[in-house]
Amino acid sequence: MTASAMAAEFDDVARWTADAVERLGERYAIPAACRGSANPSALAWLAEACELRPGSVLLDVGAGLGGPAAWAAGRFGVRPILLEPMPAACSAGVRLFGLPVIMADGDRIPLRAGSVDAAWCLGVLDTVHDKGAVLSEIRRVLPPGAPLGLLAVVARDPQVRPAPEGNLFPTSPQLTKLLDGAGFDLVEQVDQPADAPLSWTRRVERVAAAVAARHRADRAHVLAAHQSESFTRLFASGQISMQLIHATRRPTGRASEQFPDGAQISTPTGDGFEAEVEAELSLAESSDPQRAAALPVPDGDGATAGPAFEYVSLHGRAVPPRGTAGRTP
Ligand SMILES: C[S@@+](CC[C@H](N)C(=O)[O-])C[C@H]1O[C@@H](n2cnc3c(N)ncnc32)[C@H](O)[C@@H]1O
Repeated sequence: MTASAMAAEFDDVARWTADAVERLGERYAIPAACRGSANPSALAWLAEACELRPGSVLLDVGAGLGGPAAWAAGRFGVRPILLEPMPAACSAGVRLFGLPVIMADGDRIPLRAGSVDAAWCLGVLDTVHDKGAVLSEIRRVLPPGAPLGLLAVVARDPQVRPAPEGNLFPTSPQLTKLLDGAGFDLVEQVDQPADAPLSWTRRVERVAAAVAARHRADRAHVLAAHQSESFTRLFASGQISMQLIHATRRPTGRASEQFPDGAQISTPTGDGFEAEVEAELSLAESSDPQRAAALPVPDGDGATAGPAFEYVSLHGRAVPPRGTAGRTP
């Protein structure tokens, strides 16, 4: 996705959405912060498929404002970690839900191998150029057999016209092959279940209206609205649709059953990455040593998952502290 469209849809609108929720009230937070179009039935399907349990660590890659992860924490008692590259969306996750957020791209996750219990990645892959790299990196941080829940926008045919700016939709078979190549076994792939209840949709619409009332004339709002209209047209024409996917991390060394000659599992972690991660974690811990000391630290095998940090910035971009979030870029 181009920088401007990406920033408009996932950063500016994220900040405005968090602002609007703070004005309107808490009951608007989760519906408005589900930006990948997941609804309660889709989230319940993913949570049940992944067998989410109280206390287990759920990494949400491309978490946006954190609505789906907050929903999972509230309904299933998981401990979510949000991973999201856009600063205002990161801030929103903290402002609205008080969840731990890592500001990073999905193809370089600053967590140790096998350190989380489950992962979600909802409405993200079509915005990512190297989908295999993100999936491989998610695989790295999961232990063998651990579940991945995906909400994916898939194309009926390889060519989608006109494609919304920056979106590359895989077809369903392409996605299956990508998962296999990244080292996941596909368990189930279904169409997105029924629509959200009216009360959920109305809360989403109320927040969207509050955002539009203040920002309609803003270029970022116009860009984001244009993207949204393109999506609506493509869904209506059947060129794209949403699927829910449950996959599990294949144990190392076991060949794919579906694609015996399938692609090798790539590990996008280059030289120095581990050192960079360690440095980032130390930095984050040292910024609040008391809090860090009180939290569990993942052991070498990732057996006791649990972040000892609240923010990590891999690219030197600062996420504003709680309370001031959302008023900077
Ligand atoms: C449609 S939103 C979905 C947000 C959230 N998953 C949800 O369902 O509410 C897509 C999100 O993916 C994030 N994203 C885009 N490229 C990414 C990447 N390379 N790694 C991780 N996240 C990415 C965007 O910033 C955006 O927040």
